[in-house]
Amino acid sequence: MSDSPLLEIKNLQVGFDTASGLLMAVRGVDLEILPGEIAALVGESGCGKSLTALSTLHLNEPPARVIAGEILFKGENVLAMEPERLLTFRGAEASLIFQEPMTALNPVFSIGDQIIEVLMTHGNFTKEAAREKTIHLLAMVGIPEPQSRIDRYPFELSGGMRQRAMIAMALAMGPSLLIADEPTTALDVTIQLQILELIKDLSKTKKMSVLLITHDIGIVSLIADKTAIMYAGEIMEFGDTTNVLKKKKHPYTQGLLNSLPSQFISGKKRKRLEPIPGSVPELKDIPDGCVFRNRCPHYQQKCENEIELKYIGDHYYRCIL
Ligand SMILES: Nc1ncnc2c1ncn2[C@@H]1O[C@H](COP(=O)(O)OP(=O)(O)O)[C@@H](O)[C@H]1O
Ligand SMILES: [Mg+2]
Repeated sequence: MSDSPLLEIKNLQVGFDTASGLLMAVRGVDLEILPGEIAALVGESGCGKSLTALSTLHLNEPPARVIAGEILFKGENVLAMEPERLLTFRGAEASLIFQEPMTALNPVFSIGDQIIEVLMTHGNFTKEAAREKTIHLLAMVGIPEPQSRIDRYPFELSGGMRQRAMIAMALAMGPSLLIADEPTTALDVTIQLQILELIKDLSKTKKMSVLLITHDIGIVSLIADKTAIMYAGEIMEFGDTTNVLKKKKHPYTQGLLNSLPSQFISGKKRKRLEPIPGSVPELKDIPDGCVFRNRCPHYQQKCENEIELKYIGDHYYRCIL
């Protein structure tokens, strides 16, 4: 029996109103995540990953705006939720963590008070019960001596511990969906691995779905069940992580893998890194047809036509090759 998806992103299109008209940054993204599944969204900086993440919780702010598409959470359209419903959705059912914990944590309150506040706002907790639960949460995310750390202020914690505290806060109400936007980018390698392990563990034990956003294709094999490769607002390749990595079909996926310092890929050390020439286009310069064509080593005339995402037995990719 297969689960029905927890989250469905359908034909998501996000754009910006600018003086020179509407510029599209997310150009028809589709993605499904099953309960307990970890899906990674991977691409270079500026590809529209964060806008996709924010749209999922209906958090985009002007000038960004969802132009078309649906976000379905257990079948309910997030983009059509009433303000009150949105607050419970974001407070208790879906959480967001990102690269810089200091933007989520308030510097003037202890981490304990901030988590207690979440529990008392969204749950039926007394102050004492909330404090107890908070100590539990801090222990669960691997913060040592939670009984004393609970009263620490964010600045008193290391980067890794702050990240853990933010995760504890995000998990306080037991969300079934966690959106993690580059949650480990600012951390050193050992701590990155620990945090990714933690997220993976929590996902499996709590059957929590995760949308993990990263520019580092090197980490997806460690954590993600499914991987979507995103470029200039479009999905270039998508499927089970093993299939996407092993049978990579899209030149962009190959490019990302070739340019990888490979600190996380065990075994073969690459002799020479080959960065993808050029850079992600600005929104006003995204080409017609294949959006990757002006950086692609396999460019042909045909690439100037619209290219569909096609299924090849075990995964999808968008390329004429
Ligand atoms: N507030 C904004 N105004 C104009 N353009 C923006 C704004 N926020 C993001 N963009 C543009 O949208 C594109 C996608 O951004 P983003 O989703 O943040 O990418 P990523 O998270 O993949 O790095 C980029 O080209 C970025 O410059
Ligand atoms: Mg981003």
